[in-house]
Amino acid sequence: MKTGFIGLGRMGSAMAANLVKAGHDVTVFNRSPEKRRALLELGAHEAAQVADACRGDAVITMLADDTAVAQVALADDGIVGKLRRGALHVSMSTISVALSKKLAQAHAEAGQRFVAAPVFGRPDAAAAAKLFIVTAGDPTAVEVCKPLFDALGQKTVPIGAEPAAANLVKLSGNFLLAAAIEALGEAIALVGKAGIDRHAYVDLLTSTIFPVPAYKTYGGLIADGKFQPAAFTVPLGYKDIGLALAAAETLRVPMPLGSLLHDRFLRLLAQGGERLDWSAVGGLAAQDAGVSTFTS
Ligand SMILES: NC(=O)c1ccc[n+]([C@@H]2O[C@H](COP(=O)([O-])OP(=O)(O)OC[C@H]3O[C@@H](n4cnc5c(N)ncnc54)[C@H](OP(=O)(O)O)[C@@H]3O)[C@@H](O)[C@H]2O)c1
Repeated sequence: MKTGFIGLGRMGSAMAANLVKAGHDVTVFNRSPEKRRALLELGAHEAAQVADACRGDAVITMLADDTAVAQVALADDGIVGKLRRGALHVSMSTISVALSKKLAQAHAEAGQRFVAAPVFGRPDAAAAAKLFIVTAGDPTAVEVCKPLFDALGQKTVPIGAEPAAANLVKLSGNFLLAAAIEALGEAIALVGKAGIDRHAYVDLLTSTIFPVPAYKTYGGLIADGKFQPAAFTVPLGYKDIGLALAAAETLRVPMPLGSLLHDRFLRLLAQGGERLDWSAVGGLAAQDAGVSTFTS
C-alpha cells in the first residue's frame, strides 16, 4: 500500500522499517528530522511536513501522546486537513478514549476513514514484527489495513466498530501490566530481603503458576533491578494510567489499584525517573524495604 508513517520513536522507527521491508511504499515524517535518515536508507520516502505523508491510501500515526496526535492530526495543515476523501488514518499510538472519539468525528466530517489500532509489545517485539494489534473501526476500513497489520504484528484482533473501543481495551491492558509490575515488585522485594535468589524465584513463578509473557519480561527486569535504557518510559506509563483513570471516571468505574499506580509513577517522576523504563515501578517496593535494587 502507499502509506505515510508519522512518528519514528522507539516503536514507530521499527514499525515503519517493517512496512518498507514488506514492500509497502512508505513516506515517513518525524518532528526531529534526523530520525528519518535510517528509514530513507532502507528505501522510505521523506516527508518534509505532515502533508507530504498524507498523499497515499493511508497514513499511520505512532506518536507519544494525545498532545502530539492532536497537533499532527487536527492542526490546520494536519492530517484531517490534508488527507484525500476516502483515505484512512490508522492511529496506533496509545491515546485517550476522548481524543479517539474526536478524531473519528473529524475524519467522518472530512469524508475520511479512521481506524484505531493500538498495540501490545515493546520495541523488540515491534522490530521482530511480533506486535499484537487491537483494531476498531468500520470493518471494511479495518480489512483494507490488513496488509499493513500483517507486516507489523503476529496477531490482529478486531474489537468493534467504534474506534475508541480499541483505545479503551489498550488502556485497560496497560493498567493490568502496571498492576503486574507493582505486584511482582512487592513479591520480589519480600523474598529478596529474606536472601532468596530473585532470579531463581522469578524462574520458579514463570515456570509454574505464572507462565505468561508479562511475568517473564517484567519479573526478569525487576530481579535485575536494571531499568535503563528504557523500552517504554515512565512518562508514557504515567500517561497511560492517567488515561485509564480518566476513562474510568467518565464511566463511573472506581479503580483503586489504578489510583495507587498513578501515585507510584508520580513518585518516580518526582524523583527524576523520566528516563527509566516503566518497570522501575517494580523497584519501588525494594526501595521501601531498604534494599534498593536500582542499577544503571
Ligand atoms: N515503547 C513501548 O514499549 C510501547 C509499546 C506499546 C505502545 N506504545 C505507545 O506507542 C506510542 C509511541 O511510543 P514510543 O515508545 O515509540 O515513544 P517515543 O520513543 O517517545 O517516541 C515518541 C514519538 O512521538 C513524537 N512526538 C512527541 N511529541 C510530539 C509532538 N508534540 N509533535 C510531533 N511529534 C511528537 C516524537 O518525535 P521526536 O522524535 O521529534 O521527539 C517521536 O516520534 C506511545 O503512544 C506509547 O504509549 C509504546
